[in-house]
Amino acid sequence: MSGARLAVYPGSFDPITRGHVDLIRRSLAFADRVVVAVAVNPAKQPLFTLDERVALIRETVTEPGVELRSFDGLLVDFTRQIGATLIVRGLRAVSDFEYEFQMALMNRTLAQGIETVFLVPAFDLTYLSSSLVREVARFGGDVSALVSPAVARALARKFGR
Ligand code: PNS
Repeated sequence: MSGARLAVYPGSFDPITRGHVDLIRRSLAFADRVVVAVAVNPAKQPLFTLDERVALIRETVTEPGVELRSFDGLLVDFTRQIGATLIVRGLRAVSDFEYEFQMALMNRTLAQGIETVFLVPAFDLTYLSSSLVREVARFGGDVSALVSPAVARALARKFGR
């Protein structure tokens, strides 16, 4: 689609939560296509492998207009490669702000013309994070309201339940 607005929604997605899904849907209000970009991120030791994280997003997000890619290296390089100029990030609380602000300014320094757009998730999802979901699932808590059924099953398998 020529002139279509393309947004990149990057993250570790370890695993994808209802908070991520909410932001993907909100992005589609101003972007024609949203590329969910799963970071390989060698600095982190994810619970789910890259292939597992991608597969769980594929099972969870079925909206038209959403594409799924993984990337290694700098986010701005990936963003440029696919011809996008918008990076979408979620801001849940003040505690997110410092890191997100730093990252947005670093990305702008690296690549003029790529803008970061911050979206606020639904109020009832503001406390949600992948790390909390992992922790709750690790100790046998019920995460069914926080993630898709596919992710809940994958977490149960991961923790041997
Ligand atoms: O879900 P996360 O872990 O908060 O996502 C962070 C992510 C993957 C978006 C960020 O670490 C990233 O962009 N990594 C790619 C490497 C890069 O470009 N680093 C410089 C950012 S200033």
